[in-house]
Amino acid sequence: MRQAGYREVFSIMPITHLNTIAEMRSHLEARRADFPGPVVLVPTMGALHEGHASLIRQGRTLAGKDGTLVVSAFVNPTQFGPNEDLEAYPRTLDHDQDVCERCEVDVLFTPPVGEMYAPDHSVSVREDRLSESLCGASRPGHFPGVCLVVLKLFHIVQPNAAVFGKKDYQQLAVVRRMARDLNLAVDIVGGETVREEDGLAMSSRNENLTPSERSAAPGIQRALQAGKAQWEKAPDTTVGILLRLVRARLEQIPEGQIDYLELVDAETLEPVSVVDRPVVLALAYYFSAARLIDNIEFGPERENG
Ligand code: PAF
Repeated sequence: MRQAGYREVFSIMPITHLNTIAEMRSHLEARRADFPGPVVLVPTMGALHEGHASLIRQGRTLAGKDGTLVVSAFVNPTQFGPNEDLEAYPRTLDHDQDVCERCEVDVLFTPPVGEMYAPDHSVSVREDRLSESLCGASRPGHFPGVCLVVLKLFHIVQPNAAVFGKKDYQQLAVVRRMARDLNLAVDIVGGETVREEDGLAMSSRNENLTPSERSAAPGIQRALQAGKAQWEKAPDTTVGILLRLVRARLEQIPEGQIDYLELVDAETLEPVSVVDRPVVLALAYYFSAARLIDNIEFGPERENG
């Protein structure tokens, strides 16, 4: 027998789809009287897949039945470099609306670029420590763009919590640092990476893989798993040996090439020389028309908790 959905059980209101900041502010203000629970934001760039759906469901749980779950779908131009795929980035509004409907979202926010950015906008938001390495090194300007748009979304939605996927591990760490250092009253919550059956992390960019690249791509996660397995088998393996082992596995992938492969402290993202705390083995990998990122966490608990 079909289970009744949240909307049927708890509220009859259909999903609200808004495009302007003024509408968002007045809608959220008005909702508060009937739904006094937490406001939870899941920021996305649309083209929603099962990975996003999982973050959105996590957001629904955090918001509860008396809270408000907001999903933003905005392809943010300031986080794309001049030679990146801004124009090619998929825009799938009808589909995104369906996913949000199914995942019991209350408000879908899809502002046009002109709503988010004045033509002469000139304020930037930079995080200067965690943003420089890993993807930040290959994509200068990317994290300032992410910080800027996320801070703007936080100002517009004023969420109590916001959910970010762990696939973009560095983004999660940078946003967490921004929230800490700017004393933002928002909990930054990490959501687990959702994978295809063969282990490939779900990503909108997987669409850009050729069939043979798609067959090769799960090798990325398998190589990372081999690194973790090596540490589990021999925790005193040096980081040099561990990285060489993973690199060798990656080099066996018949297509594409490594952008970076690094083993870093899970919180500071600084390279480690021994695995004596939680670490992240993170990489970016170029295929012909897609740059994919993935990571794996391991290491002993931090000694001081
Ligand atoms: O992860 C993303 O989709 C984007 O970087 C985000 C957080 C929505 C900001 O544009």
